Amino acid sequence: MPNPTVTAEAAGVAIPVLGFGTWMLEPDDARRMVRSALEMGYRHIDTAWIYKNEKAVGEGIRDSGVPRDEIFLTTKIWVAHFADGDLQRQAEESAESLGTTPDLLLLHWPKRKPAMDETVRALNDAKARGLTRHIGLSNFPSAVFREAQGYSDAPLITNQVEHHPYLSNQPLIAAAKELGSTLTAWSPLAQGKVAEDATLVEIGRAHGKTPGQVTLRWLVQQGIIAIPRTQKESRARENFDIWDFQLTGEEMQRISALARPDGRLGDWIDPDFVWDDAA
Ligand SMILES: NC(=O)c1ccc[n+]([C@@H]2O[C@H](COP(=O)([O-])OP(=O)(O)OC[C@H]3O[C@@H](n4cnc5c(N)ncnc54)[C@H](OP(=O)(O)O)[C@@H]3O)[C@@H](O)[C@H]2O)c1
Repeated sequence: MPNPTVTAEAAGVAIPVLGFGTWMLEPDDARRMVRSALEMGYRHIDTAWIYKNEKAVGEGIRDSGVPRDEIFLTTKIWVAHFADGDLQRQAEESAESLGTTPDLLLLHWPKRKPAMDETVRALNDAKARGLTRHIGLSNFPSAVFREAQGYSDAPLITNQVEHHPYLSNQPLIAAAKELGSTLTAWSPLAQGKVAEDATLVEIGRAHGKTPGQVTLRWLVQQGIIAIPRTQKESRARENFDIWDFQLTGEEMQRISALARPDGRLGDWIDPDFVWDDAA
């Protein structure tokens, strides 16, 4: 299998566009799959304090034997730790559990209390203290993304949000571009739903690829970072095997046209905020 590390750039930071997600993976599976994914060529791993598998993810990284500086590792600050002091303490705990400093530390979901400027300054402080190399956001609607960047000395190098063919997210994509940031797609396979999609099956057939591969290719071909998750080695391999084909402009448009108003799968945003498409 070809093993390129194709990256998206934000503020001079190169982020591998295809990563491996670990939400819902029990520690044993997280350790096994992180190791396997890295052996297959993945160079970007996504975890979070709230996934309760940071220690296992760190073990998987070490088991793989892949040099640490070849890997881009993301974790996230849980919303209960957004006060100044609490945030830095979690950042220390996460780095200790991982056994290594993460490359990217995200605020997991936006929150109004404590005030966002306090939280963003604490995140910058965690970076200044060497508890992460870079900082960013997750699940921030575009207006709140702009607001948070206004409070931040360091660039917020990604906004990790739900994104797949059934959600348009054009305002979020535009905001990331305008701010010199990137978009990272969580649930890029719509939690497996893409496998049954007639349009994706048909496009895949033309390229000898599966609907999952077509979906991931559609994302990375737009410069959007994708972090699919699986507990199966065979699927991790399938999801990484997307470098030897290209979707045509017409195919890209057909996939984008699958977006629909009820396409959101994980609407856990605090009621203080609204998504761009609901605003
Ligand atoms: N920031 C956030 O708030 C947030 C929220 C959700 C997720 N995330 C991150 O994003 C990652 C990915 O999102 P996700 O885990 O929700 O969903 P996903 O990657 O869209 O889908 C995972 C599901 O699809 C199945 N699957 C994997 N590859 C497949 C393929 N090629 N064909 C068909 N089915 C396939 C998996 O089953 P098997 O395991 O049986 O293969 C699993 O049930 C997470 O793991 C996490 O790291 C972040």
